[in-house]
Amino acid sequence: MRVLVIGSGAREHALLLALRRDPQVTGLAVAPGNAGTARVAEQHDVDITSGEDVVALAREVRADLVVIGPEVPLVLGVADAVRAAGIVCFGPSKDAARIEGSKAFAKEVMAAAGVRTATSETIDSPARLDATLDRFGPPAGDPAWVVKDDRLAAGKGVVVTPDREVARAHAAGLLEAGHPVLLESFLDGPEVSLFCIVDGRTVVPLLPAQDFKRVGDGDTGPNTGGMGAYAPLPWLREDVYREIVSGIVEPVAAELVQRGSPFSGLLYVGLAITAKGPAVVEFNCRFGDPETQAVLALLDSPLGQLLYAAGSGTLAEFGELRWRPGAAVTVVLAAENYPGRPRVGDVVAGSEAEGVLHAGTARRDDGAIISSGGRVLSVVGTGADLSAARAHAYDIMSSIKLPGSHFRSDIALSAAEGKVHV
Ligand code: GLY
Repeated sequence: MRVLVIGSGAREHALLLALRRDPQVTGLAVAPGNAGTARVAEQHDVDITSGEDVVALAREVRADLVVIGPEVPLVLGVADAVRAAGIVCFGPSKDAARIEGSKAFAKEVMAAAGVRTATSETIDSPARLDATLDRFGPPAGDPAWVVKDDRLAAGKGVVVTPDREVARAHAAGLLEAGHPVLLESFLDGPEVSLFCIVDGRTVVPLLPAQDFKRVGDGDTGPNTGGMGAYAPLPWLREDVYREIVSGIVEPVAAELVQRGSPFSGLLYVGLAITAKGPAVVEFNCRFGDPETQAVLALLDSPLGQLLYAAGSGTLAEFGELRWRPGAAVTVVLAAENYPGRPRVGDVVAGSEAEGVLHAGTARRDDGAIISSGGRVLSVVGTGADLSAARAHAYDIMSSIKLPGSHFRSDIALSAAEGKVHV
C-alpha cells in the first residue's frame, strides 16, 4: 500500500513513522512536509488546500490511501475531491468537518445527541459584548471567562481568564478583526483528548491523552497550539473512558449519519472531566497535535491498515487494537517569542536524533536544519510508566540546541506524581 500524508507538523511526522511500521505499507509520500519528514517519505510541495492539486499528486505518487492531517484542507473539502477521484481517503467530508469548522454546527449536533457541553453564546457585534460578558464568568457563577475565536485559529484563539478586562480586550480585538466571538461557560476539571477512528457509526477509540495548551510551566501564559502531551491517563477511570465512547462519541457519530453527513476519519473529542462527569469542550475533525505523537508511539496495530479500513468503510471488521505497554510523553520545543511572532531561521542542532519529530523546520542549501515556525519540533519519550517516559523525553530534549527556544519542564509531572484529581 502506498500512502500520501498531507501536512507538515510533528503530527504528520508521527503518522509517517507509525505508517512505516506497518508491513503492508510499501511507499510513503508527504506534502508539503518538513526537514524531518523528508527523511521518511518522498516530499512534494503542493497547495494542500486545493483538492485538484492533492488529487494530481495522489495520482502522480500512485497513492492507494491519502491521509489528511490538518483541519484546513478538510474544512475546505479536499477529502471529497480525493474520494471523487476514486482514491481511498482518511479524513472527513467538508460537510462532516463542520464539527470542527463551525462551532454553531457542533453545538447543534451535541444538543441533538444529548451530549453535555459548555453553554455558549456567539456575538458578532461590539454592542452586545458587555451584556454577554455579564452573563458569563465571575460574578455570574463561573470562575473565569472563556472567550474563543469562532473561526479556526490553531488553538491560539482561546483566552481563559478571571480578569474581565483581559476577556473584554480579547473579544473586542477579535470583533474588530471581523471574527465572531464565542463566550462559553467554564468547565472545571482535568482535560482529556480522546481520538476515535470513525467510519459512519463504527467508533474505534485510541488511548486517551492530555495536552498542555498554556505556554508556561504551571499552566501559565497564553494559549498555544500545544506544548506537550502524554498518554495514557492513569487517573482516568475505565468506566469514565467507556462512558465517553458510548455516551458521547457514538451518539455524535450516529447523529452525523442521521443528518446525512457521516463522519469518516478521526473524530477528536476534547473534554473536561467535571465533578458531574465528562463534558465536551470541543470536537475536532483530525488528529490532535501534540497528543498524536504520544498516542501513536504506543500503537502496536498496523496504522496503514487501520486508516485504510476506516477510509474504505470496513472498520467494523478491523478487530481490537493492540497497544505497547507503558507510557509516552511528548514535549514541544518552541521558537523564541512563540506563541507570538516566532523568531525563525536559526540552526537547530541535534534534531536528527531518534525520538525527535519535526514541525517548523526546513533544510538550508548548505544542509543545515533551521527553524521555520513557532513549534519547531516535538520529542517523544517512552517508558514503563510516566516518570520513565518523562525522563526519556527530557533526556532527548537536552541534546537539542536552538538559540532563544523554550519548552515546558512540567509535561505529565502532576500525573506521574499521582496529583491529577477529578
Ligand atoms: N491538541 C490540540 C489540538 O490539536 O487542537
